[in-house]
Amino acid sequence: MLDTDAREILTERRDSVLLVRIHRPDRKNALTLAMYAALTAALEEAERNPDIRVVVLTGGGDSFTSGNDIADFLAAPPTGEDSPVFGFLEALRQFEKPLVAAVNGVAAGIGVTLLLHCDLVYARSGAILLLPFVNLGLCPEAGSSLLLPRRVGYPRAAELLLLGEPFTAEQALAWGLINGIGADAGATLELALAKARRLARQPAAAVRLAKALLKRTDAEPLRDTMALESQHFIDLLGSPEAMAALRAFVERRRSEE
Ligand code: COA
Repeated sequence: MLDTDAREILTERRDSVLLVRIHRPDRKNALTLAMYAALTAALEEAERNPDIRVVVLTGGGDSFTSGNDIADFLAAPPTGEDSPVFGFLEALRQFEKPLVAAVNGVAAGIGVTLLLHCDLVYARSGAILLLPFVNLGLCPEAGSSLLLPRRVGYPRAAELLLLGEPFTAEQALAWGLINGIGADAGATLELALAKARRLARQPAAAVRLAKALLKRTDAEPLRDTMALESQHFIDLLGSPEAMAALRAFVERRRSEE
């Protein structure tokens, strides 16, 4: 076990694979500042430790992650690029070892954009994915304004990012966004772990170099795009539209209680 600050980020060694589980099921695994910091610490430890060859990211309960905790956005919005959320995104962007995702259930916001940084992604059949940034008065992050249109083409990226239309794991597979589908959460994790074990048996230096080469063309524009997106995201978070949309989410939930 790694010594992470947040109990909601659970890490488990399976030989040379590090399994990182986002575990806050009562909030659909929404990410708090402490959870971003713990995820970053897990990635940094994986990068440092030569015995860890591959990282697998998954969620606990029925969700992958519903993205940034919306109450956290209201209580402690990120004000600069030193915020834990941007620290996590930078750790993701710079991560040199293979990263595999097992999307066991719903994924929203950063729960989807982080997948664009993974090398292999498997998702549960029927899992819903959504990018509701604009709906909340915010803008794309994690380099998704660059990576998503490159992966799925501009028209589809516009539907997903400008309209925030939800899509399924099956659609994501058909569009080339993910590698495969598991029948249920358990099968999805098994699929991801089996691929991770295969990656772990490959020559480590060759895997790392091949990953760097695969990502090379996008590396510089990605860094610039992420810096630009972060600045706009911080600015928009303070806007009346975003405040109203975020409060509406929190208050709708309260009024349903
Ligand atoms: N931040 C804070 N709380 C969240 C959350 C988030 N991102 N996502 C879900 N929750 C909470 C809900 O408020 C609810 O709390 P309650 O039980 O006290 O009412 C609980 O988690 C369960 O969520 P619920 O919405 O009932 O589950 P669902 O299966 O109907 O829908 C989602 C799942 C992910 C589609 C929906 O919760 C959602 O849209 N969440 C927000 C996603 C989002 O906008 N993320 C930020 C992007 S920047």
